[in-house]
Amino acid sequence: MAKQIQIAIDGPAGAGKSTIAKIVAEKLNFTYIDTGAMYRAVTHKAMQQNIQLDDSDALENMLSATKIELQPSTNGQLVYVDGVNVSDVIRSNEVTANVSQVAAHANIREVLVAMQQQLAAGGAVVMDGRDIATHVLIDAELKVFMSASVEERARRRHLDNERRGIESSIERLQEEIALRDKLDSEREASPLIQAVDAVYLDTTNLTIDEAADAILKLAQDVM
Ligand code: DC
Repeated sequence: MAKQIQIAIDGPAGAGKSTIAKIVAEKLNFTYIDTGAMYRAVTHKAMQQNIQLDDSDALENMLSATKIELQPSTNGQLVYVDGVNVSDVIRSNEVTANVSQVAAHANIREVLVAMQQQLAAGGAVVMDGRDIATHVLIDAELKVFMSASVEERARRRHLDNERRGIESSIERLQEEIALRDKLDSEREASPLIQAVDAVYLDTTNLTIDEAADAILKLAQDVM
């Protein structure tokens, strides 16, 4: 039987992490955990409650009284906040524009990282995010840092938005992605950075299947 390893996939927005991680998890029969959805869920609830997103204490109080659940489904991972399915609404432009600010708070990260570590404890997981290899699963058997050019990432997000019926402009997406890269990479708490022991995978010119196959091959080597 294949080993129940942990696979950590990090990288900037729109590099294809979630699509590819989902396929890899399916092929290996592992659980897929999208950690960005947890930061989005916190952001969404804070916005609904009119909590100032720069107020880390208020956010932490809110989070301590919040139940976040991730549930695998045939449509990918479903996200519930206090029992309500927020899987779609956490992808809105408003949440996307604000999530980096919430994800920059060290106290919020601490709570979510502990939840992520608990979810991955048994192994057999593919987890994607920004700090998985560097903070969440530092002993993961396979670490991948996935990226692609800003232009290609904006093009992919644009197609994704169109599919979801969300209004979208490629030029604006490029600006937003570049800004989010900057905020995520330059923040003090667990910035987006490639782990020294991570394999770099540039997906700019790869199809989804090619990228998934590359990771599956790397996984086989360590299983
Ligand atoms: O992957 P995503 O676009 O859904 O992530 C949303 C935001 O959450 C992104 O701006 C960075 C942040 N994030 C993070 O700081 N750490 C993670 N492990 C996952 C996401």
